[in-house]
Amino acid sequence: MLHRALFLSSPPMQKEVVLSGIRPTGFLHLGNYFGAMRNYVRMQEEYNCYFFVANWHSLTTHPDTKELQNSVYRVIAENVACGLDPEKVALYVQSDVPEIAELYLYLNMLAYKGELEKTTTFKEKVRLQPENVNAGLLTYPVLMAADILIHRAVKVPVGKDQEQHLEMARNFAERFNHRYGEVFPAPQAFNFGSELVKIMSLDGNGKMSKSENQMATIYLADEDDAVRKKIMKAKTDSGPTEPNAVKPDYIENLFTLMKITSSADTVAKFEHDFNNCVIRYGDMKKQLAEDMVNFIRPIREKAADIQNNKELLAKIIQQGAEKARASASATLQQVRKAINMNY
Ligand code: TYM
Repeated sequence: MLHRALFLSSPPMQKEVVLSGIRPTGFLHLGNYFGAMRNYVRMQEEYNCYFFVANWHSLTTHPDTKELQNSVYRVIAENVACGLDPEKVALYVQSDVPEIAELYLYLNMLAYKGELEKTTTFKEKVRLQPENVNAGLLTYPVLMAADILIHRAVKVPVGKDQEQHLEMARNFAERFNHRYGEVFPAPQAFNFGSELVKIMSLDGNGKMSKSENQMATIYLADEDDAVRKKIMKAKTDSGPTEPNAVKPDYIENLFTLMKITSSADTVAKFEHDFNNCVIRYGDMKKQLAEDMVNFIRPIREKAADIQNNKELLAKIIQQGAEKARASASATLQQVRKAINMNY
């Protein structure tokens, strides 16, 4: 009886809050899948999850919005096709949650020009688009911090390229708490395999990307033949010359891809061949190509079905916005109270 009373009076376990976002600036690829979406799907059971399409962020680099709506729908459809359940998570579009913009405004007062100018992605974008160095580009990490902090998220599943942004989000949260009182927990970048991942492009130059290096990037919407062709062209070399050699990064990348798509036995066979200097990369690529085709095909087909079902998409997006706004407005109330803005 006593036990039962104690059990009943203890507060329910709060699930940790998880948040992540994807920009709708092109077709999603294996880097997005491996760095982000695979983690989303695994986290949806145990955490209180918010996943969104970062359409405001896309305006910093893609001011032409003719394709934007289609891209937003595609990102939603591809997330669901990869296994995200809109009933279990809040899957929403950033611009449907105006509370984020208000928090962005407050955080902007706590972000300094010097640190924003030093951000790696900012410097890279300045190099890529010198004709459009807009203020949104400079404050990109502040908007990203607002995305995260609006739900007071603690875990943020992202690829390695987002690590610095996460560090900045923690700084802004800390500064806010220091100045106005404790409102935000410190968010951490997260990956199930402990290390954050970076999927390289198949030609060994840089990472897989939505808009660059398209012939060396495998997209979730790629047809079977395109997948085969890209994998067969992947960079390899004449093979290791001594047993148990360290793999060059472009070979490691092929093994990483094989680990998502092929059976454990297949991976073990090629690992063994590599370690014994008898690996035939042509055979490995043929196997990987077939396994990859079988991995991508159901995602591509399911995503296409969802994308054609505008009614379903509208329902998912509306439901997601409602969940996200409920959480966002609760945080914003605390924020306004902390900064004495609640009249
Ligand atoms: P974005 O749209 O560039 O990428 C979406 C996710 O995919 C990961 N990713 C990769 N991971 C491994 N290897 C790659 N080659 C690769 N390419 C992309 C990214 O790390 C990311 O997790 N700024 C974010 C969007 C964003 C966001 C946020 C993310 C806006 N607000 C708040 C988390 C929290 C971006 O541009 O991701």
